[in-house]
Amino acid sequence: MAKDGGPGVTASDPKQAPEPPGAARASSMWGGRFAEATDALVQRVNASIGVDQAMAEDDLLGSIAHARMLMRQGILTEAEGEAMVAGLRQLLTEVRAGKVEWREELEDVHMNLESVLTQRLGPVGGKLHTARSRNDQVATDARLHLARRGAEVRGLVIELRRVIVRLAAEHIDVIMPGYTHLQVAQPVRFAHHLLAYQEMLERDQGRLEDALKRADVSPLGAGALAGTTFPIDRAYTAELLGFGAVAGNSMDAVSDRDYMLETLSALAILMMHLSRLSEELIVWSTSEFGFVTLSDAYTTGSSIMPQKKNPDVCELVRGKTGRVYGALMGLLTVMKGLPLTYNKDMQEDKEGLFDALSTASDCLRLYIGMLPTMRVNAARMREAASRAYSNATDLADYLARRGLPFREAHHVVGRLVATAIERGVPLEALSLEELRAEDPRIEADVYAALDLETVVDARRSYGGTARERVLERIAAAEAELAGLNDEGRP
Ligand code: ARG
Repeated sequence: MAKDGGPGVTASDPKQAPEPPGAARASSMWGGRFAEATDALVQRVNASIGVDQAMAEDDLLGSIAHARMLMRQGILTEAEGEAMVAGLRQLLTEVRAGKVEWREELEDVHMNLESVLTQRLGPVGGKLHTARSRNDQVATDARLHLARRGAEVRGLVIELRRVIVRLAAEHIDVIMPGYTHLQVAQPVRFAHHLLAYQEMLERDQGRLEDALKRADVSPLGAGALAGTTFPIDRAYTAELLGFGAVAGNSMDAVSDRDYMLETLSALAILMMHLSRLSEELIVWSTSEFGFVTLSDAYTTGSSIMPQKKNPDVCELVRGKTGRVYGALMGLLTVMKGLPLTYNKDMQEDKEGLFDALSTASDCLRLYIGMLPTMRVNAARMREAASRAYSNATDLADYLARRGLPFREAHHVVGRLVATAIERGVPLEALSLEELRAEDPRIEADVYAALDLETVVDARRSYGGTARERVLERIAAAEAELAGLNDEGRP
């Protein structure tokens, strides 16, 4: 690479200060067959410690399980095994306290930790890697890490579902326009609209649980790709680490990243839902709609326009959806051309996954905090629902119930709507004579049928917006949510 350190490297950045190619470097863990040192830029790009240090705890837990198994199988002596486990436990305390210093020249978290251990224990430390490769090690770490952080996201999805159900129950009597094509369609209960998101989140939770269930398999002991010559006990390490099963094919075990893709896909769909909710809140909080007022804590002002209150949180959640999609697309693309088994391309897997997990978890927390603090402007919603002929279908249904084929009723009402629009009044402002002039089946009881509450509560079909149906869904969701454990593995 060029003397200037290569593209993107500036001399002002001390961390990336140029070093001459082939400069003497700390001897690497795989140094045996190499006569020359690694090029400085190669070292920087090859290193994954900046990302995989997040798995340090998982790596140590995996190593402790591996060391205990080696000892139990007589591959290590009792004294060696005990010393190793004690050294690893000590390291675990230091990692948790943020006391371990990471070195880029040691490439990744696995070699960093092994190197510290070996410095402390002497040659015994070098025995930890017996019957193991970084390939099964990284796969184990990533699955352990995912189990932990995936469970956290799942817990947050459950919490947001609870927030939404509570909000729906609180606002059961608020009526708003329902939309198709963002044009007023039929009135609905605000609670019904909110509960649509609780249904989406329930599926998101299911997808996440599914992905985590399939990820719950131990690759440890697969070795580099083909298994190992040592008499290891894979079921024992799997059990120590809390895995539900042992991967049955060593080649698949080290090269499978499906579990990451499934998780990313579940997170991408979850973010898509949060993004749609964001879009609705952005629209609803405009002065034109005025359906909701977001609290000051979750909005920002403008540096120039004093009147502004911007829905940044919603916009950020909508925007951050892009990076989660990006992580999914990125990893799908990384994997698509890879021959079995491990390829260094796969080192690119973690950054996007970790970022997607943090992004989803931040966005869920934002919504868990923001939704209960939002003001619901019931009068504005009701007024908007009363405008725009949202009860036109009900007049057609009224005629259909009196024997007129629905298609014809649709035309009759269409003509009445045209008349009302011309006059600038709602349908129910037309006189009985005017209505009957279009169809004599219309009688005085039509006005009651066009009333907003009647219109909403007439939609009593299963899954509909009638008060009693919505209350049933709230009760069902509350019962389901009360029985859920939102911590640990599903
Ligand atoms: N840092 C590597 C990764 O994240 C660990 C596995 C390295 N394996 C290897 N054969 N170089 O993928």
